[in-house]
Amino acid sequence: MTDKKTSLSLPLSEAITIAAQAVGEVMSGRSLTEVLDELEPHERPIVQSLSFDALRKWVRSHELIKQFIPKNPPPEVDHLLSVAIALFLNENADGKGYAAHTIVDQAVSACDNYDKTMYAKGLVNAVLRKVSLVVQPADGETRFAPDPIPMFVPPWWRANLKRHYSKTWQSILFAQAKRAPLILRVNQKQYSRDQYQALLSESGITSAPVEEVAGVKLAAALVLSSPVPVSDLPGFYAGAVSVQDAGAQLAAALLSPQSGERVLDACAAPGGKTAHLLELANCEMVALELDGERLSKVSGNLDRLRLHSDKVQVLRGDASKATWWDGRPFDKILLDAPCSASGIVARHPDIPFLRREADIKSLQQKQRGILEQAWKMLKPEGLMLYVTCSVFPEEGEEQAIWFAAQHGNALRLGAPGQILPTDVSDGFYYALFKKNGQ
Ligand SMILES: C[S@@+](CC[C@H](N)C(=O)[O-])C[C@H]1O[C@@H](n2cnc3c(N)ncnc32)[C@H](O)[C@@H]1O
Repeated sequence: MTDKKTSLSLPLSEAITIAAQAVGEVMSGRSLTEVLDELEPHERPIVQSLSFDALRKWVRSHELIKQFIPKNPPPEVDHLLSVAIALFLNENADGKGYAAHTIVDQAVSACDNYDKTMYAKGLVNAVLRKVSLVVQPADGETRFAPDPIPMFVPPWWRANLKRHYSKTWQSILFAQAKRAPLILRVNQKQYSRDQYQALLSESGITSAPVEEVAGVKLAAALVLSSPVPVSDLPGFYAGAVSVQDAGAQLAAALLSPQSGERVLDACAAPGGKTAHLLELANCEMVALELDGERLSKVSGNLDRLRLHSDKVQVLRGDASKATWWDGRPFDKILLDAPCSASGIVARHPDIPFLRREADIKSLQQKQRGILEQAWKMLKPEGLMLYVTCSVFPEEGEEQAIWFAAQHGNALRLGAPGQILPTDVSDGFYYALFKKNGQ
């Protein structure tokens, strides 16, 4: 890729400017997903890619910025440099990046797009030329040793991982600093995995089945050999397929819904797991969500996947309270709890910049409130699956142990427990409880 325009004709310089501003929004506490949702469709893919990479390479890019600008530059310049430097670092990773002169030229042009960086053209030019020599030395010269973990995590986060995973904490961070592959879930109401894989192949898209994660068989997961826009996926708008990490696909497999069962998805938005449950069985579904804006995404997903019916209710409500409940107990409950999201950093590299240590305690309290209320709504002999996308045991195993200690009638069934991030799976936690009598 040496052309300075992206395939969607957004000049690289403009994409750098927008990505640098998106990084700035994250630094002031906004979620990157929210910021990217505000972009024009043609801007989003390239800006997402640049801003994700800037966050993933944060530690490494800031070592280089410090090396060449001893006094911290203003934030706007720092963010622009971090986006541009990540472009150099990615070229090292896959050999398919932009040419060095293109990165320098486009980053210098990007300075002109924003009044707070206009003055810094000379500085950006000088720094990036020096960076290019360090990261792309002439043949025969020694390459600057890459930082073992290029990604930023706050000290309390790193300490937590070291405490709980003394031998594997670095491999967790390595796995999360990589670009996550695009994984699909085939809508089995429309196609089998084999059928859909053949459709992909006819469209020139190479994929492979993900047969299992943590010993749980997956029937609908396909990993693409390289990502494509969803608009290129056959039948996407007719509901043939969804984008969903393979680790997230365990939820429906473990809960194994059956037609006619009454199921509660207690924390449903954006509806990935609700949809998967409905793709497997014609159950009576209550999809509950506290956040009104996110709730509309559940409906949107069910619309696209053609899964709405008079048996499906999408409700706004607080799962830690019973105010929304009609009093009819559920056969099965999926409790995909609000959590730190520390397991999904590969897909959301802004998370380590946004979380605070105190969040973990308050999330624990929320999770307990929802666990307690959900248990009251479960039928005797019913199943409740507790899920988080966290790697912190405070939100996973410690919560499951606490819950079982509170409820003599909570029988723990087989479930993977903590799943650490791999090439095809984010980090998740799964505990399955059966209600033994009242
Ligand atoms: C991990 S996400 C759920 C992801 C979803 N299950 C999926 O697979 O697409 C957790 C969700 O819980 C919602 N939430 C947080 N507190 C809640 C509460 N007290 N009651 C219901 N939903 C809540 C959040 O707004 C968020 O959308």
